Amino acid sequence: FWLRGKQPEKRVEFSEKSGMWNVYGHQEALRILADPATFSSDFLRVVPEGTFPDQDKDALSAGNLIQLDPPMHTKLRKLVSHAFTPKVVADLEPRIAKVTTELLDAVGGAGRLELVEDLAYPLPVIVIAELLGIPASDRALFKGWVDKLLDNDDEFSLKEPTEKQQKRLKDTMEVRQHLIDYITGHADERRSRPREDLLTKLIEAEVDGESLSPVQVANFANLLLVAGHITTTMLLGNTMLCLDAHPGEWEKARADRSTVPSVIEESLRFLSPFAAVARVTNTEADFGGTVIPPDQMIMVWVAAANRDERTFTNPDTFVATRDPNPHLAFGRGVHFCLGAPLARLEGRVALNLLLDRYPALRSDPDARPEFQPSPNMTGVRKLPLLAG
Ligand code: HEM
Repeated sequence: FWLRGKQPEKRVEFSEKSGMWNVYGHQEALRILADPATFSSDFLRVVPEGTFPDQDKDALSAGNLIQLDPPMHTKLRKLVSHAFTPKVVADLEPRIAKVTTELLDAVGGAGRLELVEDLAYPLPVIVIAELLGIPASDRALFKGWVDKLLDNDDEFSLKEPTEKQQKRLKDTMEVRQHLIDYITGHADERRSRPREDLLTKLIEAEVDGESLSPVQVANFANLLLVAGHITTTMLLGNTMLCLDAHPGEWEKARADRSTVPSVIEESLRFLSPFAAVARVTNTEADFGGTVIPPDQMIMVWVAAANRDERTFTNPDTFVATRDPNPHLAFGRGVHFCLGAPLARLEGRVALNLLLDRYPALRSDPDARPEFQPSPNMTGVRKLPLLAG
């Protein structure tokens, strides 16, 4: 796999360039994700003060599940976890199918489809916006912001940022602030007029007898909005890339729909949307003689772990029916992706409806896909397809 370059035996290594540790092995990743007491998610604590211009680190992590450790993490996750269980999410299937059908109807009969713009972006953003209770019609606004967040080919580094990196970080923080202000506006409105939605639930929630602060509510809702769609957009694009690159797989999936869930799982393994998750060591950790000292930032490259030949036979081959498939594309342990049942359902419904409608959906030889530049994300931002 490209992340391990020419040294596939390297599974844990320090990067002088970024000042962080990289972990590429599946077993090593599992060990880290299963042990939040040693490998904390509060990774901002080792990022030098001032790295994020004009931002205080507490304001960035308050209420942000992905950056919290137990016991606070456990308490906050409980506030919304019931809304994302496979059973509750299953009730969304008719709505997801309706949105997908409407989006595909709008494409018309030109024989072309730009998968990202026509389906893979709008579908998950409409679904998560409706759950949160913010207007899905504002999706062009979120897309503008989120595209800016992703339009960054810099690898995050703990070293003194270059001028270019400083500018990027400043732009990122500005975009983040637009998202937070947008959500705060809706949250303020909800305080006077509660509704049946997740935003109201966060506002009304109590942890240890106290309500969440406005900053906690905004960060939590922002995580749900952003994590709830960009990765699923990539999952849909990546699944199409995988099927397109393997002749015969489209027809096989069309003929036997029972294989659709395993196609989705293999796509998650083969091209993992969220390529890396971050942790920081609370204490020293020994990986077969390679010792990571305390207070070190670790990038756990789940995309590389998902290609580890010690766990997966023929890891660099897309096997639509792979079973078992213990990929780590949704992480593991206490931070296991809250939205995994929703992402899986959206993937299954969308792929089934594409298979119903298009006997031979395929890439357009005259229009190449455009890939996300961000090293932490794997996916396309444009995927022109021939639908005829
Ligand atoms: C956490 C991937 C879809 C919400 C995570 C993590 C991964 C991930 C790897 C673990 C992060 C860590 O351990 O630090 C993905 C992928 C998706 C997807 C690949 C789509 C294919 C979604 C959706 C939602 C969502 C649809 C909607 C609610 C979250 C949240 C967390 C999370 C809230 C934090 C959970 C916690 O820290 O307890 N996701 N995700 N994700 N994801 Fe997803």
